[in-house]
Amino acid sequence: MSTLTKSSLQPIIPTAERLGDVQEYYFSTKLRELAQLQRDGHDVINLGIGSPDLPPAPEVISALARGAQDPAAHGYQPYTGRPELRQGFARWYQRYFGVDLDPEAEILPLIGSKEGIMHISMAYLNAGDEALVPNPGYPTYRSATELAGGVVRPYELSAEGGWLPDLASLEAQDLSRVRIMWVNYPHMPTGAVAPAGFFEELIAFARRKRILLVNDNPYAFILTETRQSLLAIPGAREVAIELSSLSKAQNLAGWRVGALAGAREYLNTVLRFKSNMDSGMFRPVQEAAVVALDLGQDWYDELNGHYRRRQVLAMRIMDALGCAYDPEQVGLFVWARCPTGQDGYAVSDAALYANDVFLTPGGIFGSAGREYVRISLCATETRLAEALARLSTAP
Ligand SMILES: Cc1ncc(COP(=O)(O)O)c(C=O)c1O
Repeated sequence: MSTLTKSSLQPIIPTAERLGDVQEYYFSTKLRELAQLQRDGHDVINLGIGSPDLPPAPEVISALARGAQDPAAHGYQPYTGRPELRQGFARWYQRYFGVDLDPEAEILPLIGSKEGIMHISMAYLNAGDEALVPNPGYPTYRSATELAGGVVRPYELSAEGGWLPDLASLEAQDLSRVRIMWVNYPHMPTGAVAPAGFFEELIAFARRKRILLVNDNPYAFILTETRQSLLAIPGAREVAIELSSLSKAQNLAGWRVGALAGAREYLNTVLRFKSNMDSGMFRPVQEAAVVALDLGQDWYDELNGHYRRRQVLAMRIMDALGCAYDPEQVGLFVWARCPTGQDGYAVSDAALYANDVFLTPGGIFGSAGREYVRISLCATETRLAEALARLSTAP
């Protein structure tokens, strides 16, 4: 399918109203444009999407290959994932986050955490119910809310506020229609971390306001040693659930493995929706995911060695563009403010059309990101250095 191809066909039925203003995902369109530029002979350096280019651990790939050889491996799988996968997530939560979870009831494996955002929205939002969504933030919180018939209530984040929600100002508002609050620390796209005590405040706020907190936590391991889980806070389980992903820190983005963790009452509700959507995850993928979950600290140390070197280059690219950034930021990206008066879309377009370097404009993450651009660290040092050379000689 391509929206680049002109077509005169008139669909014989109208589009569902549910789609409302929801558009095709930004990267779905943009990657098509980049592919067209490549076909036209441009050597585009894609520093956009956070899709790890480094391979998974060899033992993870071996487990997948071994599993696929088994003639019994190809059938439908349990809707709640295989027990060994849930046990693997429980061990991983215990080892890296110090959180005890019951693998029978408190972990629901997902086909990537993105689908979990939709499932949670479908399971908990009635038409007109509101969801607090970070601005800037991962665009899927917004679209999933709208697709589920809910209403997006953005909460503004700013560099001055440490990219944290202003809970006092939220508290003073009428939040009676709010059901869900999406939070995501380490935060994408800004790379901000939750300071000590912030999760406790968040839990207390959610309890007072009777709001379900969902922490989306795919960047817990990248360029940070302080791994944080909202579920580690005493009493969190009553008001909070958490999404994890093996896409980023285990280099398994295309495999689609994640999990939802929290109290069984919440997970069972989500399962009522999800079990009507898919029929489980390919067994060898689950078996290999267990191996990935059991990877030790040395795996994360080596991975972060790559990202640290790449981060230095990405920050030098931001310097060359005259963009300002927080050197302490974590996660898979570098987020920076454009030179005064410049908009992120303009900076991104200039880099793409003049230098064949693609950077994500911050505006796709919400209006509060308009003056920013984001560089993904999912490119080799050679490509990052090449991008730096191209942009340094730019007029
Ligand atoms: C904040 C955030 N949440 C969720 C996801 C989706 O991850 P997954 O591959 O597990 O669906 C991403 C991916 O870019 C992300 O940045």
